[in-house]
Amino acid sequence: MDIDNIRNNFIKKIEVITSLEELEKLDVIYLGRSGKINELLKGIKELSPDKKKSAGSSINQIKQFITIELDKKRTLILNESEKSIAVDVTLPPSSTQKGSLHPITIAVSEITEIFNKIGFIRMSYPEVDWEHYAFEVLNMPVTHAARDDFETTFLSGSSDKKMGKMVLTPHTSNGQVREMERLQGRPPIRMINIGKCYRPNWDATHTPMFHQFEGLCVDKDITIAHLKGTLNFFVKSYFGDKTEVRLRPHHFQFTEPSFEVDITCTMCKGTALVDNKKCNICKSGWLELGGTGMVHPNVLTAGGIDPTMYSGWAFGFGIERVNMMKYAIDDIRSYYSGDIRFLSIF
Ligand code: FA5
Repeated sequence: MDIDNIRNNFIKKIEVITSLEELEKLDVIYLGRSGKINELLKGIKELSPDKKKSAGSSINQIKQFITIELDKKRTLILNESEKSIAVDVTLPPSSTQKGSLHPITIAVSEITEIFNKIGFIRMSYPEVDWEHYAFEVLNMPVTHAARDDFETTFLSGSSDKKMGKMVLTPHTSNGQVREMERLQGRPPIRMINIGKCYRPNWDATHTPMFHQFEGLCVDKDITIAHLKGTLNFFVKSYFGDKTEVRLRPHHFQFTEPSFEVDITCTMCKGTALVDNKKCNICKSGWLELGGTGMVHPNVLTAGGIDPTMYSGWAFGFGIERVNMMKYAIDDIRSYYSGDIRFLSIF
């Protein structure tokens, strides 16, 4: 019995093996029913009793050695093949869905960037604010309809003598006097205030939480011409070059004169017709964007600015609304449905 020969031959063979198929063949050659180890075991019975014991122990040792080496090689080959799978570019792509930013987050960045280009700085004022900033300084007395708890969400708790109660702010106009105070009543002011607003409404064009962006510009000799130029710049940058703007007379307590801003419909391009039928997005060629106007002298005074020296304008638009217009979305509630089919449009 040449155990050393078997061992040396086995080592030479296993060293060059690279595949599982070759390894299984080697396993059969050495450990199989008619393999070399069993041949050795069969030969034991021919030996004299004194040699049987030591031969049995040597055969067990070589059998153990071969078994361990085969297992080690098997693990090595499997590990190698797993590594090559990890970089196998021919495999089909993984089915995991990629995430993305929410459309309103994207719109907030786009709007911020457009206004940054013309010198407006982005501000964020409280979502939970005093009645003082949300209404009082905006020329909206206690008797104003918007201050009814049917229209605005009031927080429970005692009210402050000067500040009133706390509210979930129904518009970003609460930032107007806060910005004037931040600058200690010293214009120029060019602010774009973006934030969440809350009103108890729920239908295809209203949600209880929504976003607004509020522009405020105050300086010497500021006129409606500057307002129109700024709105034109925003509308063309956000909706496209061919979109037109118009101002319609309206009323807000905190601006005088006040306007509603309309843009030409993104669907029918202001013609009111799609395929010779009435456009069902706008019906008139125009879509309403939001409110604007020249800042009321009482608001400037509340912010410590002398209205005889300075003038300004402000506007407040809904972010969901402008995004719906841009992408012809017909139900605002889709933004907050969490429906991945809707979110993946953007
Ligand atoms: C205001 O909120 C005024 N503060 C805007 C303003 C600012 C006027 C500065 C003048 C000067 P209004 O209530 O119309 O105005 O709201 C403005 C826009 O907010 C609306 O055109 C609409 O796009 C959006 N909006 C209002 N309520 C909701 C709601 N519940 N859900 C979604 N969007 C809303």
